[in-house]
Amino acid sequence: MWAELKRPKRMAGSARLCVTNQKGGVGKTTVAINLAGALNDLGRDVLFVDLDPQGNATEGLGLLEAYDAEPPALLDALVDPTAVPRDEIIYSHAEMDVITSNVDMNAAESALMQESDPEARLDALLEHVETDYDVVVVDCPPHLGLLTDNALYATENLVIPALAEPTSKRSLELLFDYVGALELEHDVQIEPRALVANRIENTRAATDMLEWFEDALPDVPLYRIRKRVALQRAFAAGTSIFAAEEETDMQSVFTSMAETIDERLDPTEVPA
Ligand SMILES: Nc1ncnc2c1ncn2[C@@H]1O[C@H](COP(=O)(O)OP(=O)(O)OP(=O)(O)O)[C@@H](O)[C@H]1O
Ligand SMILES: [Mg+2]
Repeated sequence: MWAELKRPKRMAGSARLCVTNQKGGVGKTTVAINLAGALNDLGRDVLFVDLDPQGNATEGLGLLEAYDAEPPALLDALVDPTAVPRDEIIYSHAEMDVITSNVDMNAAESALMQESDPEARLDALLEHVETDYDVVVVDCPPHLGLLTDNALYATENLVIPALAEPTSKRSLELLFDYVGALELEHDVQIEPRALVANRIENTRAATDMLEWFEDALPDVPLYRIRKRVALQRAFAAGTSIFAAEEETDMQSVFTSMAETIDERLDPTEVPA
């Protein structure tokens, strides 16, 4: 009965996922870029969307000049997807196409609030531009608000990075409460696809938290990303670790995350 109330699943187009945790600095951007790099490494055509007004992913993909580019930019395309030519907002990167963030995105929450369907603007934009992609990966800002609502509503698939420390218990509780409320409000069903314990170090506290993650979310695949300077170096070089010169043992973790996500997303949405 409940399922019938949900809006119908898209049967065509790209698989979509967003990387979200309202807590700042837990590794959303790092995970988003490297998951996108891993999906590309598997042969998928990836569209990356930097929905964070900070523009960190835009910087970490070497596209900082787009952040200061004159309008029209991402916010204009969110307000009216048909008004902005694709080429104005989609930038090429060696591993993926990128809809970059822009300084104008700092005004996004108040600007989108004026629209009749403020949470559905990214969905409308993706419907307009995504025809050529297998997967869309969206990096979210570090707060729960209209931009994160747009990411959750458009993708319905969630990747959650969290530090292996006790503060993550409360941030995950807040996130799941928020997602539950959004599902009810907008008739969507949002699936957590991966929990990424990030920046793990060899401490007792980290080991305890990894056990807590496993117990708290037994149905969500848990991935363990250790603290690695190679991730920071790849960011500084404007690529994922898959296109970086330096090898890192975290590649296999991101590859396994990408493979599982790829399998679990609707096969009608991701051509084999
Ligand atoms: N596994 C890791 N090993 C080493 N450094 C990491 C790791 N993960 C993230 N970092 C570093 O930690 C910092 C925060 O990471 P990141 O920007 O990905 O977090 P975020 O959640 O996107 O932050 P924000 O909430 O501001 O968007 C960055 O300097 C990043 O390079
Ligand atoms: Mg970030």
